[in-house]
Amino acid sequence: MNQVHAYTTTLAVAGVSKTLGGVKLFTEVSLELQQGQSLAVIGESGSGKSTLLHLMAGLDKPDTGEVYWAGKAINHLSTNEIAVKRLRHVGLVFQAYYLMPHLTAQQNVELPFLLAGQQPDHARCIQLLEQVGMAHKAGSHPRVMSGGEQQRVAIARALALNPPLILADEPTGNLDEDNAERVLQVLLQACSSQGCALVMVTHSAKAASHLDQRLSLADHQLVKTNPVDHLAAQPANKV
Ligand SMILES: Nc1ncnc2c1ncn2[C@@H]1O[C@H](COP(=O)(O)OP(=O)(O)OP(=O)(O)O)[C@@H](O)[C@H]1O
Ligand SMILES: [Mg+2]
Repeated sequence: MNQVHAYTTTLAVAGVSKTLGGVKLFTEVSLELQQGQSLAVIGESGSGKSTLLHLMAGLDKPDTGEVYWAGKAINHLSTNEIAVKRLRHVGLVFQAYYLMPHLTAQQNVELPFLLAGQQPDHARCIQLLEQVGMAHKAGSHPRVMSGGEQQRVAIARALALNPPLILADEPTGNLDEDNAERVLQVLLQACSSQGCALVMVTHSAKAASHLDQRLSLADHQLVKTNPVDHLAAQPANKV
């Protein structure tokens, strides 16, 4: 990886390999994402998509290779150093939403501000909840929300600090068609209006077709995939 070139990118993954539980998931995966670009990662269940996203998020370390945020290598950093950087650089939407159960929807969205030592921007947080269609449940706790509602609050939380990089693991996975479309537009708007870079893992061909690039994790490699081929392989009505 050319270090100078890496400095111009929001996210760079260079020659990354990972084996888990004795099973080789992927080898020598490389990609770069510039400001405002969006990438869909598709692939069969168990192919390693979430694992790759966790490496991009600095939640796990690759066996070989390096991950760069804004041109800075992260793998040599301590867990705490990465956590501090991640707060500013990465908005994360997990496959399991990981909302704080004792906090309301609004408090969950405001949490990144508190973790960053800032006063929460209440207006921004309510606006984000409105964008994902959850403002009416701002005062509700996760235990009284459906999976899709929790997912939408988690997306609002990921965007709260306006991070340069959004990593979203199947963010439309639990949503009906209208809400999937709404969430997708919120994420894509973050790319177009705020210059965020977005990596979205998805099983949805329709969602993937809205992003700038599509890569498929198959046979231990991340390869370009033709959106038409991918759509043809999926039920047309699945979002
Ligand atoms: N901590 C772990 N130890 C051992 N094996 C693991 C661990 N985490 C994941 N795996 C295995 O690694 C493989 C890839 O898991 P991963 O969650 O990345 O897949 P995925 O592509 O995201 O699948 P899905 O589409 O079902 O979410 C799976 O076979 C999984 O069982
Ligand atoms: Mg997964």
